[in-house]
This record gives sequence, structure tokens and C-alpha cells, in this order.
Amino acid sequence: MSAAKNDYKRITVKTLVDMKAKGEKISMLTAYDYTMAKIVDGSGIDVILVGDSASNVMAGHETTLPITLDQMIYHASAVIRAIDRALVVVDLPFGSYQSDPKEALRSAIRIMKESGGHAVKMEGGQEVKESIKRILNAGIPVMGHLGLTPQSIYKFGTYTVRAKEEQEAQKLKQDALMLEKAGCFGIVLEKIPAKLAQEVAESVSIPVIGIGAGNGVDGQVLVLHDMLGMTHEFHPRFLRRYMNLYDDMTKAISQYVTDVKSVDFPNENEQY
Ligand code: KIV
Repeated sequence: MSAAKNDYKRITVKTLVDMKAKGEKISMLTAYDYTMAKIVDGSGIDVILVGDSASNVMAGHETTLPITLDQMIYHASAVIRAIDRALVVVDLPFGSYQSDPKEALRSAIRIMKESGGHAVKMEGGQEVKESIKRILNAGIPVMGHLGLTPQSIYKFGTYTVRAKEEQEAQKLKQDALMLEKAGCFGIVLEKIPAKLAQEVAESVSIPVIGIGAGNGVDGQVLVLHDMLGMTHEFHPRFLRRYMNLYDDMTKAISQYVTDVKSVDFPNENEQY
């Protein structure tokens, strides 16, 4: 068992709320496939997010907008087959919940039924309140996502820090209170000033998980491929790289190419 693991056998949405009440920080990472999810779950992570960042990381799209509900279900099913312990939260992709609450509920039900995910995450505050309520009424746990909301990238035009201005900060605080009141079990805050994120975390009893939101929140989330250094074009200030897998993998693969070409591989012990 990894030293990072706490004593919880299985993480539920209630575990996360209890962890916040006890002042225990929550760890969250993305995963989109079976092999990675197996490693992440076995390392003691509390929450795995099947993020719509799969659109960038797995499919090479410039934004998160193109990924479909079917593709999210495919990724989430693979992750679910790998996990023993973590709570698995699945992003509702762009276009699967914005038009009306009934469509939002249908999309959330498909994720729960077809992938076996444990909860859904959706971006936005007041604008998606009715959809959130409808999904929650069906017994599906919902995590909110405020601050930088990549599904609205074309509205904002940039990926810079959000809610630096008072008006946007006030709206974000109100949205966080609304999400708590509606019954969400947690909120992701992306790329906002640390002071504001801490204020939000202190104003609600549900866990607030930050990405680029400082350390005054209840937990942290990163994109797995970024923190492992597999992606190397992306280097925002908030990202800590724990490995440089891009270089390590490049070295290993180049060595393999050399070995094949020089007939060093396979050797006598590597054949039948
Ligand atoms: O899709 C994603 O990976 C996310 C995280 C950045 C929070 O929403």
C-alpha cells in the first residue's frame, strides 16, 4: 500500500464532505484509460476525473468542445474497469447539457448507466442551475466547475486567470453558494486568484478542489499527462511536473528503434 493512501476503503461523495469537515486535503487527478487509471487508483488518489480534457490530451483537439458524450462514456468505462477505491467523476461534455434540463438529465443518465461512473461534473453557475437540479433530483451526484471554464473558451477568448475583477469575483462567490444550496457535493475552481478561492472554500461546507487556485482550498486536481511531463507544450505557472516522461519515453523509444535496426533486439533470451 502506498504511503499516500488514507484509510478509506472506497471513496464516496460523503467521504469527500467528511474529509473537508476534518480538514483532510483531497487529491484528484484525471485519467482516461484503463492502464493509467489502474496506476492512479493504486497510488492512493481520492478522486479520478474523466475530464473532457481527453479532447486535448487523448484526441489532440485544440479545445474541449469536440469531444462527444459517446467518447466520454468510452473513456469513463475503461477507467471504471480499473478502479477499486477512487471516486470516479465524469465530465458532461460540451453540448450534452446546455440546451435544456431534460437533455442534461438524459446525458447524465447515459454516463451513469453506460460507463458506471459515480458522479458527473458540469461547468457553469446560475446558467445551468435548472439542469443541475434535475440531475440531482434523479439521484446523480453533481460536481460544479467555476472560474476558467474551458467549454466557454470562445466566449472569453483566452485561458488567462479569471475573476480578477470584483464583478466576476462576486458572481463566482454567488454561484458557489448556489451550487452548494442546490446539492452539489463539490466544486472545482479553475485558475482564479488564490485569495478568492480560499474565501469560496471557507464560505461553503462542500469540498472545493482547485487547479491554479492556490492552497487555501480543500484539495487539488491536475491533468495526469501534464503532471507526469508527457505533454510539454503546456506550462502554466500552477503546473508542477513530477516527471519528465516526454523525454524519458522519447529516449526509450529511440533506443528501441536503434536496437531493432541494429538487430540487437530481440537477443537469444528474448526469443523461442
Ligand atoms: O477536463 C478536465 O481535465 C478538467 C480539469 C482541468 C479540472 O475539468
